[in-house]
Amino acid sequence: MTQANDHADIIDLGGRYDFYGPIHKGLRKAQCDLLVRLGRADFGDDRVTAELLADMRELLVLAAAHIEHENRHVHDALRSHVADCVARLDRQHDDHQAMFAEIERGIAKVEAAEAAARPALGRRLYLAFSGYVARDLAHMLEEETVAAPRLWSQFSDAELLAIEGRIVGSLSPEKAMAFMRLMAPAANPAERAAMLAGMRQQAPREAFDAVIEFAVRPNLSQAEFAELAVRLGLVAAS
Ligand SMILES: [Fe+2]
Repeated sequence: MTQANDHADIIDLGGRYDFYGPIHKGLRKAQCDLLVRLGRADFGDDRVTAELLADMRELLVLAAAHIEHENRHVHDALRSHVADCVARLDRQHDDHQAMFAEIERGIAKVEAAEAAARPALGRRLYLAFSGYVARDLAHMLEEETVAAPRLWSQFSDAELLAIEGRIVGSLSPEKAMAFMRLMAPAANPAERAAMLAGMRQQAPREAFDAVIEFAVRPNLSQAEFAELAVRLGLVAAS
């Protein structure tokens, strides 16, 4: 089986740790948001174009880092148990890396072009990026419906949290903040509160406060942030 295309094939969490869920939700939201912005962009506007291309580059850096984390911390752990599954995921990751290079070339072409040539190059970039997003959506679905059950059968939740801890521990403060900016607005209220409550237990107080102020609050609506603050006990419920 590659991926579950039928609802009936999707295995419930059943109380197990949702290892892929938070980061994949973050990547789905960020990539879909960017795709919509690319489709709507006025490539004749220098400021809009520069902001959009900078955001695309930032996303590509995070998506490439995510792949590297999975290769190093997840695939090596799984390889001895489910070689066929990991070989497929490795190939998909290699395919993603090639697409990142292709998209970067498309970004550079839009940047270098005269204003009159930019709409056509922007359309090419939009379509190329849509192809990447489509493949990544299928890839993440395979990870969450095929690889995750294999992880659950091989590792306890404590072991999965230890793998996640090694990934988080390998991040620079800037990267950790950037990933939180992706994940916090993409999670549902309960997941968001659980993620941040977990972080509060692990991280120094100043790091937690910085994530709240610079990664979480600016990326939520006022109502969403107010609900989170109550769930985390940051303010008294009114
Ligand atoms: Fe992956």
